[in-house]
Amino acid sequence: MAGVPFDSMTGKIWYNGDLVDWSDAKLHVLSHGLHYGSCVFEGERAYGGVVFKSREHSIRLHESARLLDFSVPYSAEEIDEAKKLVLEVNGFSDAYLRPVAWRGSEMMGVAAQTNRINVAIAAWEWPSYFDPAQRLKGIRLDIAEYRRPDPRTAPSRSKAAGLYMICTISKHQAERKGYADALMLDWQDRVAECTGANVFFTKDGAIHTPTADCFLDGITRQTVIDLARRRGIDVVERRILPAEMEDFEECFITGTAAEVTPVGEIGPYKFAPGEVCRVMFEDYMAEVQQKPAASRKSEAA
Ligand SMILES: Cc1ncc(COP(=O)(O)O)c(C=O)c1O
Repeated sequence: MAGVPFDSMTGKIWYNGDLVDWSDAKLHVLSHGLHYGSCVFEGERAYGGVVFKSREHSIRLHESARLLDFSVPYSAEEIDEAKKLVLEVNGFSDAYLRPVAWRGSEMMGVAAQTNRINVAIAAWEWPSYFDPAQRLKGIRLDIAEYRRPDPRTAPSRSKAAGLYMICTISKHQAERKGYADALMLDWQDRVAECTGANVFFTKDGAIHTPTADCFLDGITRQTVIDLARRRGIDVVERRILPAEMEDFEECFITGTAAEVTPVGEIGPYKFAPGEVCRVMFEDYMAEVQQKPAASRKSEAA
């Protein structure tokens, strides 16, 4: 169901160092980022007014840009501060944040080395990515036709807007068939990730997840691996073939937007969301709501 269009919402957006009205955060139609995909972005969540792993996201924005041969003209510290400002000025406590950086319109052509690099940060309130009732039962995933590309053919470790083209096509196809999302295989036909999340399976008390060698090594993925190991659960990162899904017990996906979401079905394969899904969901929600030491200190002062 469509709500208010994103360009018609109100509030303030941080745009190249200034806070501008939502309706004024525009770019020209002849922007290199639009025509040639020279654009990188982040998706982050704030819980209780604190952006979870803000610095890691800011560093990844820099790294994504570097892989696309440009540099973000603000330090990770400055971007962290800008995110805080956006939350404050819009009065948000629990929100989704979208930093984005793109090449501007000084030159139009494949090469555009000297184009201005623009940076904007928007935020909005956004509760659950998937329908909450569906989420507990386990969402249903299609298997996408498109593969995640060979890292020799695309900057696959970059959160580059262009890499989302096949994600959008795959998610549209999945939704048309009544699925919540699609699982994508990689260029070698191994299990890779979903269109906006990483994937995990369980078997005999251990967690198995594909090695992130040609797709985004999500910040939530890294957090969940760390949480599982802290609980003493064995986490195996390895190549996973689609046929192996027949023998896995539980399945869940992870991402800033999806958080930890149990999966009930992937194409013909069925899973029973159980104890591991529950524990990882609860541990993750407890982790994101925990304030970093610095902000706990300033509250106490
Ligand atoms: C394609 C893709 N894979 C994985 C992820 C998970 O990344 P993160 O946990 O850093 O949000 C995302 C979300 O950003 C994504 O879009």
